[in-house]
Amino acid sequence: MSAGAPLTVPGALPEPAGVAEPAVVTIVIPTFNESGNVRELLARLTESVPSRLPCEVVFVDDSTDDTPAVIADAARDCPFPVAVIHRDVAEGGLGGAVVEGMKAAGSDWIVVMDADLQHPPGLVPDLVATGEKESADLVVASRYLPGGSRSGLAGGYRVAVSRAATLLTKGLFPRALYGISDPMSGFFAIRRAAVTAEALKPLGYKILLELAVRCRPTAVAEVPFVFQDRFAGESKSTAKEGGRFLRHLVELRTASAPARMVAFGLIGLTGFVPNLLALHVLAGAGLHYLPAEIVANQFGVMWNFLLIEVLLFRDRRHHRHWADRMGRFALLANADLVLRIPLIALLVGEFGLAVLPATTLALLTTFVLRFAGTEALVYLPHRRSRNPRNPRNPRSPRTPRAPRSTS
Ligand code: GDD
Ligand code: MN
Repeated sequence: MSAGAPLTVPGALPEPAGVAEPAVVTIVIPTFNESGNVRELLARLTESVPSRLPCEVVFVDDSTDDTPAVIADAARDCPFPVAVIHRDVAEGGLGGAVVEGMKAAGSDWIVVMDADLQHPPGLVPDLVATGEKESADLVVASRYLPGGSRSGLAGGYRVAVSRAATLLTKGLFPRALYGISDPMSGFFAIRRAAVTAEALKPLGYKILLELAVRCRPTAVAEVPFVFQDRFAGESKSTAKEGGRFLRHLVELRTASAPARMVAFGLIGLTGFVPNLLALHVLAGAGLHYLPAEIVANQFGVMWNFLLIEVLLFRDRRHHRHWADRMGRFALLANADLVLRIPLIALLVGEFGLAVLPATTLALLTTFVLRFAGTEALVYLPHRRSRNPRNPRNPRSPRTPRAPRSTS
């Protein structure tokens, strides 16, 4: 990641003698061309946070406009430390920026919020207070609780899409999202100790979902909020974000081997469609059914290969050339077919099984072998060291600390 060194913009207020009170909360704010919003945001944070809670602010900026300069200027009026981490490469987009900010956080609590004032700054102390009062690791600002609303979400279409995405996500992760009515919220507080930033691989906008599913914070609380209209500028979310969101869901859902095997099986089932279609066409063209079966099977194999490449093993493709992966995958898929017949013969002839249970058992056996073979021989996972003593890989995120300035 080519994050520049955090540039700290100390407040211009006269520094009181003695040691400053350490910040209790680090407010992480991702920015992408928000020059029209950051001044107002800092003013409203100044109004509502420091009197209730010592804080510091970390902007993680991927802007191409003058947002960092506007922040630096506005920070002179802030009674708390303000840091800007400007990234030359916007790796991971909004989610990647938030993880970067969490790594730089030095307080016990981290609040993540947008820069466009859709998230009311006055709620920041309430989120932390609720977490303390209810001994929660994660406090979500929710639009779906009584007292909350999404009036700022422009248009009925966006409201409907957002609601459908929420339902789908809750259905896919009923346990991890238990007690979270708004997993799409971009406004939340989390204890730094509950974040395993190294385990996070955020893809796009849904960083709360990523945290809830991968870090499994033990106790969760919610606070209602009204999603405001954007203060200035435009939303940075594009149609591409929708595709990224679906990929993110698949990636999170298939993080464990048993879940991947189920997905592998479901993809395998869809392979019947191209297989049978090809068989229909080839037999129609007058090919004998046996060679037609063999050729048609390759259509199913290629279909499956494409789907598992895109959906299942997307981030495990880089250590082997695509032709190598395709060859190995096809070999395993056809070996499955060739193995199954002698296996059925063995089960029937040697073990006295009836044909139907023997076939079922053979199908299951070759399926599991094929899944294990595909994982190990085509997409061998790269294991990362997770040694908690390794200072380069700490459990709690703590890399370049923004130096505290007194205020
Ligand atoms: N650093 C960085 N890099 N910041 C980004 C990037 C990026 O690539 N893309 C967007 N941001 C920043 C914006 O500058 C803004 O401060 C914040 O992330 C949210 O971006 P918006 O473009 O305003 O998002 P939205 O209003 O469509 O979506 C918000 O509401 C959704 C709920 O409907 C976000 O909070 C989503 O996370 C949330 O799901
Ligand atoms: Mn917004």
